[in-house]
Amino acid sequence: MEKKLKVLIACEESQTVTKEFRQLGHDAYSCDLQDCSGGHPEWHLKYDVIEELKKDWDLIIAHPPCTFMSKAGARWMYPTAGNICDSRLKKGIEAKDFFLKCLNANAKYIAVENPQPLKIIGLPDYSQIIQPYQFGHPFSKKTLLWLKGLPNLVPTDIVSEFKPYLPSNTGGKKRGQSFMFKNITQKESSKTFTGIAKAMAEQWSVYIINQPPPTA
Ligand SMILES: C[S@@+](CC[C@H](N)C(=O)[O-])C[C@H]1O[C@@H](n2cnc3c(N)ncnc32)[C@H](O)[C@@H]1O
Repeated sequence: MEKKLKVLIACEESQTVTKEFRQLGHDAYSCDLQDCSGGHPEWHLKYDVIEELKKDWDLIIAHPPCTFMSKAGARWMYPTAGNICDSRLKKGIEAKDFFLKCLNANAKYIAVENPQPLKIIGLPDYSQIIQPYQFGHPFSKKTLLWLKGLPNLVPTDIVSEFKPYLPSNTGGKKRGQSFMFKNITQKESSKTFTGIAKAMAEQWSVYIINQPPPTA
């Protein structure tokens, strides 16, 4: 391999993306407050990622928590028409602050992933929308990428028949019924799809390695 990249996967307990970069020979580490479930504790930094965001990584990919920012939580942000839940909005603003720390981290190449945010949170414009069905999985789950210095991901395997991975939580009738399509926990549902992780590792590592060195 020509060059080993130092890669931080922030807010990743599954190690799905970390393992794809390791597979290609790169020095990738997951970082999460929780234990890793990916089977490689030797590649896992189990603590708050904030200090790591200031260090000298070639590439940072972040999956910050979305619970209080996501459009899927609209019904809890607006419990009755026209009224906003102040405590939830406060948590949404805190989540935005953390999201922006990830996006403004100290690395030349950065990708931050999140679902569609609520407008009121005021996140910056995203770079790209991707779907699991573009990367070999028979599911839809709208996923947004905010990219710095990186090209958009190119779909690798478009699946024409797919179903929603998660129910829409915005409809009143479904209130309280999470994950009706699959009997999975919230933690399971937020793990990155392997096809997307593979595309990130393959496409972005080649892109970064092929960039011309900075001129003096
Ligand atoms: C939406 S989940 C992302 C899961 C990820 N896609 C995966 O495959 O593991 C957000 C993750 O951020 C972690 N997290 C929240 N705050 C954090 C912090 N300050 N430092 C590190 N991890 C954090 C949570 O523990 C959770 O695992």
